[in-house]
Amino acid sequence: DRVYRIAVIPGDGIGKEVVPEGLRVLQAAGERYGFELRCDHFDFASCDYYEQHGKMMPDDWKDQIAGHDAIFFGAVGWPEKVPDHISLWGSLIQFRREFDQYVGMRPVRLMPGVASPLANRKPGDIDFVVVRENTEGEYSSIGGRIFPGTERETVVQESVMTRIGVDRILRFAFELAATRGGHLTSATKSNGISVTMPYWDERVEAMAANFPDVRWDKYHIDILTAHFVLNPDRFDVVVGSNLFGDILSDLGPACTGTIGIAPSGNINPERRFPSLFEPVHGTAPDIAGQNIANPIGQIWAGSMMLDHLGEAEAAAGILSAIEASLLRPETRTRDLGGSADTTTCGEAVAAAVLDHAAAQLPRYRDGQD
Ligand code: NAD
Ligand code: IPM
Ligand code: MN
Repeated sequence: DRVYRIAVIPGDGIGKEVVPEGLRVLQAAGERYGFELRCDHFDFASCDYYEQHGKMMPDDWKDQIAGHDAIFFGAVGWPEKVPDHISLWGSLIQFRREFDQYVGMRPVRLMPGVASPLANRKPGDIDFVVVRENTEGEYSSIGGRIFPGTERETVVQESVMTRIGVDRILRFAFELAATRGGHLTSATKSNGISVTMPYWDERVEAMAANFPDVRWDKYHIDILTAHFVLNPDRFDVVVGSNLFGDILSDLGPACTGTIGIAPSGNINPERRFPSLFEPVHGTAPDIAGQNIANPIGQIWAGSMMLDHLGEAEAAAGILSAIEASLLRPETRTRDLGGSADTTTCGEAVAAAVLDHAAAQLPRYRDGQD
């Protein structure tokens, strides 16, 4: 019936400014492509909610959200009000863990009209996907603090890798590589982290045996970050642990001009739980409240959400509309050297989605400019 129930959670800071633009574009896509989004809006998973209730979310948050087809999420965190580890472990990290969103899918693409800070890079040179393990690894709840306040004060936080957890993210990444350029890169640090990372490498090698058509390699995370800057054209699918994937998915988008356009899918591929779509960036307290944030990361996350819901044509239409808006300085935001505010940029993308001629333009391909 093509009616989708969406849980909308704006969160804090610029989350509250970019989510409405994402919704504007999603509604336009619904009109243009003939489906309906039924949105329920939630004020929890925000530091305002914490101030009122002493916790980030109500106790029954899972029941309130589990029945939705997807979650459209802004960003959480306002360190002046609530320490980040409290606000994030009380909200976003809970969604990822409790809804088993073990895939962090984060495309990185240099878009036409956008200048890379890397010399001589043009669209087509940077086009890869960071696949991030999203539920275990370094983001573990195993550990603690002993002898607090004494000179023997000691803190421990264990990295956890399970066979199921590692294999399922590697399988997803190899499968994705098989549908793209047939190349997978694994981020490791098995020279220094001597138990978990060699295990990761071992599982990569075992999984690779199932994908003879995928060429694969591995780099230690330190030199990998250097290659992101020096040779970004080398990458197709890059898979990493939770922390490595987090770092690579800010570095990658920075190489494509701004982190403001980067989207993120937190996906439960088995669809036992709703998946969550959000921008990669955070709440940007330094620019919040001014209507100048770039809404493209949020809008692109909306495109990923539609893809997940089976609306592939609409998802591609939004991407074309994003490309059209990025080509014009008057519809680009300031982080990209343009003059548009958040609303103007969102309206331009929505208009391009509705504009049949523009939406039917072929997607950008290598070699065009
Ligand atoms: P940030 O991504 O919020 O901001 C980093 C820098 O990038 C800032 O200068 C900001 O102005 C700029 N920026 C980010 N998004 C932008 C956009 N759309 N348009 C233009 N400029 C943009 O990272 P941070 O400063 O490390 O974190 C701020 C808060 O957000 C913290 O509380 C942090 O924990 C939280 N955070 C949340 C998420 C999330 O909810 N997924 C992700 C990252 C950070
Ligand atoms: C992200 C963010 C989060 C993460 C933080 C806010 C906990 O940086 O989504 O990339 O580390 O996963
Ligand atoms: Mn991050």
